[in-house]
Order: sequence, then C-alpha cells, then structure tokens
Amino acid sequence: MTLLGGVDIGGTKCAVTLGEAEEGVVRIVRKEQFPTPVAPEETIARLRELLAAHLAEYNGGTLEAIGISCGGPLDSRSGLVLSPPNLPSWDRIDCVTPFKEQFGVPTALQNDANACALAEWKWGAGKGTRNMVFLTFGTGMGAGLILDGKLYAGTNDMAGEVGHVRMAEEGPVGFGKAGSFEGFCSGGGIARLARARAEEAIRRGVPPAFCPVPEQLVHVTAKSVGEAAERGDPLALGIYRTVGEKLGRGLAILVDLLNPEAIVIGSIYGRQRALLEPIVRAELEKEALPIALGVCRIVPAGLGEKVGDYAGLSVALNVLER
Ligand code: BGC
Ligand code: NA
Repeated sequence: MTLLGGVDIGGTKCAVTLGEAEEGVVRIVRKEQFPTPVAPEETIARLRELLAAHLAEYNGGTLEAIGISCGGPLDSRSGLVLSPPNLPSWDRIDCVTPFKEQFGVPTALQNDANACALAEWKWGAGKGTRNMVFLTFGTGMGAGLILDGKLYAGTNDMAGEVGHVRMAEEGPVGFGKAGSFEGFCSGGGIARLARARAEEAIRRGVPPAFCPVPEQLVHVTAKSVGEAAERGDPLALGIYRTVGEKLGRGLAILVDLLNPEAIVIGSIYGRQRALLEPIVRAELEKEALPIALGVCRIVPAGLGEKVGDYAGLSVALNVLER
C-alpha cells in the first residue's frame, strides 16, 4: 500500500486529500476543503497545515508522493503557477518547493484539467481508451488531453488551454477575452451571460422570475439560472441554449482536431445534462465530421463531482509510475 497526498487549488475552493494506492487503484481516506483565500501565500500555508494535520492523524503508512492540481496557465517543470484567469492574485508562484521542503517526498504540479484527465482515464469514464479529452466546465474551462495512451501537455504546458479559444466576436468575458469558450462555458461565464440578458429583459419591462429587479443581478449564478431553466423559465432556457450551442461547437472542434474515443465533461455538464445534452448533440451533428463523431462518446465524468478529489492523487501516482 502506498500513501499519497493530493492537493487541489481551484478558483473557488481548495482541497487536501490522502489516498491509499494499491495496484493502480486509489482509495481516498481523508479529504478536507475550504474556500480559496485571495493571497497565494495564505493558500499554500493552509494546504501545508492541513496535509500535515491529516498525516499526523493517520497511522496507516508513510507519505510517498504529493500531487498538486491547479488551474493554469502553469509550468509543471519549474513548478510555477503563472497567471491563471481564475486565480487573479497569483503570478509566478512556486507551489512545489514549499511542499517538497516540508514533507521531503517527490512532489509534482499539474494543470487541473490534465490531472482530471488522468483521473478519468485511470478510474473514470475514459478507462480503457487510448485517446480521450477531459473538459473541466466548472469555474473555468480547460482541457486535458490523453493522446496515444499518454498525457499530452504541449511544448510548454499550454496544450488544452481551450478556454482561450474564441467562439464569437462578442459575448461574456472569460480568460481575459469577450466571446471566448470560457466566457460562454464556465460558471462565471454563464452568470455573466445571464446577468446581461436579465438586465436587458428588466429594461424592456419583461423581467425574468429568477431576477425580477436590478438589485438581484449580483445574486444570479449558473446554478440559479439552471434551476430556473428546469422550471421552464424561457429566458433561462435561452441562456442554456446559447451555452449548449457553444459547448457543442467547442466539442465539434475537438472531435475534428483530435478524433478521440471519448470526451469526458466535468462539473456543470454533469449537473445540467438534461438541459444541455440535446442542444450539444444537435450542434455536434451539424458541425462535426460524422466519421469522427461516430466513434466518440460524449459523457459526464465517471467520478462525478468527485473527479477533483482524485486529480491531485492521480498526479501523485503519476510521479511514482514515471
Ligand atoms: C485555465 C485552465 C484550467 C481551467 C479550469 C482555465 O481558466 O486556464 O488551465 O484548466 O480554467 O480550472
Ligand atoms: Na490542459
């Protein structure tokens, strides 16, 4: 049995996990999460404290490796988190050294989408494939690519930064750009799109039930719009239609470019699948090369909402397997 530490740093929350690995299978034995603090130093300090506390409580073995999963852009070789759109106060922060120094074990940093791709490939919906893509579709939009049976990170770790790809000339801002894939297809992006449309509807005198007055605009979230859409609210349904169309367009590009066996999609897709799937399907049929689309499954994360818990651990396991 091998004891692994997983550290996950996201735009919304952070988590520390301990996992027991045996014959390539990981079992989570401890997990704790907290909202991501603004300052990177504070974030790293809390993560180190939590990991140390969990290790002290746990008597099942000694730690052998740590994997850190974090939103990019980042540089896995130097261990630097560069300047992620969803961690605005981070700029060239060394994440690896503080853990290596404190715990004295091999430690690796990996882009969160790449880490989730590894987790879904080993234990989730991508198991048994040689070519698969994982899309985060949560706080941010990023892709992890498993190509020809291994993780493909690109020349300097930027492979899969699909959130930056332009989907329209105008639209909600994401990844520093209006109309980007992350602008339309992320939690913040959906909220921004919804606020813009709700504001316009209020101005026209036809306010949506989910946001009847301008004062409520700040409380509009991807979740509240999703719930309104499930109740049949026409404006909310229209917002999810736009999001689904952009997601379908993005998937069609990935299908045509990479010819994968599976595209596995996290967070929001799992939660709003009933709303999104028919729209995405129609768009894919319109846009993707049929021969490539025919061999590609489009599925929610097999590990469900837990995929992030396994992300850091899959990176830790990867360090030992290398
Ligand atoms: C980042 C990606 C990351 C994704 C999900 C994007 O904003 O650029 O690196 O994978 O968010 O966190
Ligand atoms: Na990536």
